[in-house]
Amino acid sequence: MIPVSNPSISKSELDYVSDAVRSGWVSSLGSYIDTFESRFAAYCGTKYALTVSNGTVGLHLVLVAYGVENGDEVIVPDLTFVATANAVRMAQATPVMVDVCRDTYCIDPELVLRAITPRTKAIMPVHLYGHPANMSALREIAREHRLYLIEDAAEAHGASIGGSRAGALGDCGVFSFYGNKIITSGEGGMITTNDETLFQRLRYLRDHAMSKEVRYWHTEVGYNYRMTNMQAALGLAQLEKIDYFIERRAELLMQYRMLLEPHGIECNPAVCSQPVNWMTCAVVNGLGRERRDKVIAAMREGGVDARPFFFPVSRLPMYGGGTNPVSQMLSDNGFNLPTYVDLTIEQIGEVCSTFLTALDGVS
Ligand SMILES: Cc1ncc(COP(=O)(O)O)c(C=O)c1O
Repeated sequence: MIPVSNPSISKSELDYVSDAVRSGWVSSLGSYIDTFESRFAAYCGTKYALTVSNGTVGLHLVLVAYGVENGDEVIVPDLTFVATANAVRMAQATPVMVDVCRDTYCIDPELVLRAITPRTKAIMPVHLYGHPANMSALREIAREHRLYLIEDAAEAHGASIGGSRAGALGDCGVFSFYGNKIITSGEGGMITTNDETLFQRLRYLRDHAMSKEVRYWHTEVGYNYRMTNMQAALGLAQLEKIDYFIERRAELLMQYRMLLEPHGIECNPAVCSQPVNWMTCAVVNGLGRERRDKVIAAMREGGVDARPFFFPVSRLPMYGGGTNPVSQMLSDNGFNLPTYVDLTIEQIGEVCSTFLTALDGVS
């Protein structure tokens, strides 16, 4: 079976993780944490970066740090992984799902404007599948309406707009290092920002909100959202190879485009930005959910794992209500094809022929 994703782990990862374990610093103190944070901040071009246990709690921590609470609204794209909306619910606030642009798959700034109410506190764009959202338009809206702009950059390590990288395009950015991400720490996440006050507050809340002056003195309820030194060791080894990883992923996408676009299949967008290829996207207009799912099942029988696009969040029972036609259309017709550093040209050929045969089978 060709998997949809597979981390690229080699000697330096094993060396760093063993070193972290041998050092005895196996919890959330240790030199790998500090180095991973400072190198990741430098990579994104931000002053600060803070490791967290995963991307979801990173989003939650940012919302709490900004004082988002019950009664507040946070605008999120409808087409995203559920964690974006869940983090808003975790903060007791209401996620307001807005449709995405057809050309970028990311939140539509025009519709964001229309969704703003007196209760809106923040906009949380997602750089979906590695494509940056339209951050210049969103920055303008956020500034005019005094809203926080939180990038959900979980899927977009290294993507950029005009030379500025994801994580440095809003007030803060949140990344995931889950095993299928561009770089992984097993589980893990990172928050990036240039705002020192926010950074200090995040660090405090992440560590049980313990007073800096008086040990074991807490004046509010904080969290244990820390990453371990062992995870940071894995993450750091991966970060050292990120340029190569991104380049390889771009090569894979070029290959997929060559084989699929002549058949009228749409691959990842690239609009006014430098996206990264977190997941290769293939959209077959007019196919529909039922046939799309049959194609995925047939591919699996043929030894290739593929995934459907996310469901629109507004279609999930706990967020039910509303329809966003572009999100729905992309969700019904979208595939994610195998995308990982060690995937070979021959395997891409195999994926594409299995895919095209399965598509023929349902037409
Ligand atoms: C868009 C998006 N946001 C948030 C997350 C949550 O990250 P994690 O799985 O590290 O909690 C993910 C990842 O899976 C994601 O794809």
